Amino acid sequence: MKIATMMMKSWLIILAFMLPSVTLFATECVSYTKKGNQVIFNCSDGSKLSLTVNSSSVVKVWFDQTGKFNRSNKSFAVVNEQLEAVGDINVNEEPACYELFTSKLRVRINKSPMQLQIFDKWQKLIFSDFKDKGHVPDSGAVKAYKVLRNDEQFFGLGEKTGPLNRRNRSYKMWNSDRPCYSVTEDPLAKSIPFFMSSYRYGVFLDNTYKTEFKFGTESSEYYSFEAAGGAFVYYFVFGKDYKDIMEQYISLTGKPIMPPKWAFGFAQCRGLYTKEAQALEIAAEFRKRQIPCDIIYQDIGWTQNLQDFEWRKGNYTNPKGMLKTLKQQGFKMIVSQDPVISQQNNPQWAEAEKAGYFVKDVRTGKSYDMPWPWGGNCGVVDFTKPEVADWWGKYQQKPINDGVSGFWTDMGEPAWSNEEDVDRLNMKHHIGMHNEIHNVYGLTWDKVVKEQFEKHNPNRRIFQMTRSAYAGLQRYTFGWTNDSGNGNDVLEGWGQLENQVAVGISAGLGGIPFWTTDISGYCGDITDYQAMGELYTRWMQFGVFCPLSRAHHEGDNAAEPWKFGDVVEKNSKAAIELKYQLFPYLYTYSRKAHDTGLPITRGLFMEYPNDTEAIKVDNQFIFGEELLVAPVLKKGERVKKVYLPEGEWIDFNDKKSVYLGGQTIAYRAPLSTIPVFVKKGSIIPMMPVLQYIHEKKDYPLFIHVFPSYEDETASFELYEDEGEDLGYLKGVFSLTKFKCTTVADGYETHITPEDKGFKQSARRNLILKYHLDKSPSQVSIGNKTVNNLGEKAIVADLESNKASTGWSWNDVTKECWVKIPDERKNVTISIK
Ligand code: NOJ
Repeated sequence: MKIATMMMKSWLIILAFMLPSVTLFATECVSYTKKGNQVIFNCSDGSKLSLTVNSSSVVKVWFDQTGKFNRSNKSFAVVNEQLEAVGDINVNEEPACYELFTSKLRVRINKSPMQLQIFDKWQKLIFSDFKDKGHVPDSGAVKAYKVLRNDEQFFGLGEKTGPLNRRNRSYKMWNSDRPCYSVTEDPLAKSIPFFMSSYRYGVFLDNTYKTEFKFGTESSEYYSFEAAGGAFVYYFVFGKDYKDIMEQYISLTGKPIMPPKWAFGFAQCRGLYTKEAQALEIAAEFRKRQIPCDIIYQDIGWTQNLQDFEWRKGNYTNPKGMLKTLKQQGFKMIVSQDPVISQQNNPQWAEAEKAGYFVKDVRTGKSYDMPWPWGGNCGVVDFTKPEVADWWGKYQQKPINDGVSGFWTDMGEPAWSNEEDVDRLNMKHHIGMHNEIHNVYGLTWDKVVKEQFEKHNPNRRIFQMTRSAYAGLQRYTFGWTNDSGNGNDVLEGWGQLENQVAVGISAGLGGIPFWTTDISGYCGDITDYQAMGELYTRWMQFGVFCPLSRAHHEGDNAAEPWKFGDVVEKNSKAAIELKYQLFPYLYTYSRKAHDTGLPITRGLFMEYPNDTEAIKVDNQFIFGEELLVAPVLKKGERVKKVYLPEGEWIDFNDKKSVYLGGQTIAYRAPLSTIPVFVKKGSIIPMMPVLQYIHEKKDYPLFIHVFPSYEDETASFELYEDEGEDLGYLKGVFSLTKFKCTTVADGYETHITPEDKGFKQSARRNLILKYHLDKSPSQVSIGNKTVNNLGEKAIVADLESNKASTGWSWNDVTKECWVKIPDERKNVTISIK
């Protein structure tokens, strides 16, 4: 053989190995059967592809190698498939393909080779199988190869390390306990196999086995997703933008529950917060120092034995008394729970063992002997067994009856069952083997915790915060981003801090709008508190813009703001106070998050998908829709480069300064400053600093108005409700619409309240704070001109005088204030 031919041959062989293994087994689509909104396409090799049209923009795809469409368990994530009444689906047969149409999509199945392609109604190809490798079976596992476009970007997958654009990266879903995880660590503790593409679609791979996503790491022509077992089901979701796609994902997997109001207050924790005297001391210190705080956590050592929900003897002598005192001071207490029973805890272990409540070892048929980081070996509670729920519910109710307000569900991987811990695959749960249940173990626990809480405490909102779970967790719980920080050298945790911004934004993209980072970073012993001060301050300044805000650190490393010296305390306090002041705004967005699933802390790409600079930004975010936050994340940084998208942006720290968007600015950010900007044409409702969220209910509302351009309107619809009950699910709440139109000679504002069975206060004042260029000459409310009272008089009267109206101008701050009692009536304010 000629040398050239030989070389060619060996190249061909190498090439054949590099290509996906199925190249030679291209299958053909030979026929179809149809029932209602489901069409099943039959392939020449016996496999079948089922397409169910859930709405004009959502198609459920199920590829089954055997053609039997059996699945061991119904979906853990999807609660609603009937998104729209689509009626019967028609199939068009063409010589080369079959086609289905919805009002938004053309779904085409090419016959030979079999290939799924989805076009929008303008015939733009949105989503396509890569050649004949759309769905490639391989003994139980299935891998899907899809066409990758040069400019295609991907976002999502839930709580994952950055960068936000997943292109050219690979990810795995296998819930993992990775303390002090690196900035590229994968997988982490949650599995949310849902991503979105810049080609205006999302894919939710609803598979609980180990799944993998490779966004162009294998080829520049295709990307892939795969599952190691189970039914290969995914939902294709078409949307006009990322928000639209996310909302449809939430329609499938359920709305996030609203946290109780106080959950948005500041929370303090520490690994060794496990003592009554300490809890009282810390709480008193917060009040003494006037640093707002709502929640004191107790970590797992609070309980005598895993997991009997008894207060540890010696550490707590009068827990009910402690909880009563905390309550009087306006604090809630949250306690940790682990999903296991220690063998050292004989009575409860024996009880569960006898009842068969533990996950079994498939080799012995006995309860699986699980090593646990504390409390010795344990039985793993099998929450997939229906009888377990009431049993667990009875136990967990004990601290609630004592006065505890909710739970921190920790270690639900269950911990120490990472990929390398292959022995765990011998765990047999009531409804399946561990390879199927692993990623949903935490979710099944969260469900029990929530449902049992509601059963024992009717009409009360659950507070639950979870480390490990699966898609759909938003129906039961909130999240935190696990053990961040640098364990080797706590002072070098800057990279981890920056990474937390992307991890948090990404949690939001997984349908978890309510989450916190461990402020200070969990990992690493703090020996030099002074040296740690800067990192703590910057973590706090980012942390107050996480929807929930908890400071936490491992072991007995104190992470209270006052431990780091006066300056750190001052700056931390100011950051926490800002969080409380923004509560009316944050709570409104929480309601929106409940209704839509949209994150509160959003990546810039979501609000500005067409801004090529904005989509590259991983370390700034939009908080709600009006505020842009660019936390300082680098050691020693005092001038922060901030990218501002299109429009005009007002410096929230100095509301007279305006920056033009579409550029990167250099912004001076000393340790006291968090770079925050508000978009021109916005209204931001705020309240005074309270020491805890429920401290007062008649507080004045400060409505900051940043008027729009002439003939344009700035608006905000404030949402309020009782805050702790489930009335919000039954339409009991109040709305107050503020609309300010810029007219030729001033500003016209309409306030339209609408109380639906709830009113925050009958006695409060509204103070509209207009940010203007120059003093108005006249202010009228309705058709009555009101007096210029001066700012001092308004301030003096804020909470006492609920009757008078008036206005003021401050030439230094350039603010025009208009004070008006909130009588829950329509009001028009004219400023000339
Ligand atoms: C692991 C959690 O991630 C951490 O936050 C907690 O302090 C420890 N478990 C102890 O319960």
